[in-house]
Amino acid sequence: MNYLRLGVNIDHVATIRNARGGVHPDPVLAAKLAVESGADGITAHLREDRRHISDKDIARLKKEISVPLNLEMAATDEMLATALKTRPDYACIVPEKRNEVTTEGGIDVVRGKKKLAKFVEKLQAKNIKVSLFIDPVPAQVKASAEIGAGIVELHTGSYCNTRGTAQKKELARIMKATEICDELGLECHAGHGLTFDNVAEIAAIPNIVELNIGHFLIGEAIFIGLKDAIMKMRAIIDEARGE
Ligand code: PXP
Repeated sequence: MNYLRLGVNIDHVATIRNARGGVHPDPVLAAKLAVESGADGITAHLREDRRHISDKDIARLKKEISVPLNLEMAATDEMLATALKTRPDYACIVPEKRNEVTTEGGIDVVRGKKKLAKFVEKLQAKNIKVSLFIDPVPAQVKASAEIGAGIVELHTGSYCNTRGTAQKKELARIMKATEICDELGLECHAGHGLTFDNVAEIAAIPNIVELNIGHFLIGEAIFIGLKDAIMKMRAIIDEARGE
């Protein structure tokens, strides 16, 4: 099976930094350590309220890291301007609600087709690859292809938050969505809520080429260090992939 890329999301290094308002721990330094430990890309979400990653972090990440930068962004004019200025390698468009703790579901491409199509076009015109963070729903996959996104990231939150039969159903929904991606020529990424315990089944799905993982890795770094956490995740993914 083909190699599965691991993008490490370093948002929550900034969450800890911001708890005291200083400069430590530095998310850019964490990103560099993540790259040394096997991350194939770095993901960061510049939220509207700047609760973790700051504009300065994004500018520094773009300048200082040696792997592709994936900027997660809401579909707002402010974020579009930042992306066009910073020119990350990837922009992942996510839904954003101010009061949510994390990105709780995928973006509704079916309903937001017209608006999102403009974002996709403007970002791609600057050679930024665009992915849409969607729930694993056939209509959302099809709408993403119709507006020319090129990439979708499937939200794995429901899979991670369920158990037993419900989880098996979620896994089947994700697999079906990846098959539709394949038919429509969309590159398929996945992420949200992935841990050492639940990543293998997702990593084993052949059409998925990239996983983006953050909160668990940063949390696990408290116990075993960031490098070991990433290396262990990498090893589980490789084994699931038959690498
Ligand atoms: N992918 C996307 C698009 C996300 O918004 C997030 C969360 O910021 C992740 C992946 C990573 O999720 P987690 O932090 O739960 O691993």
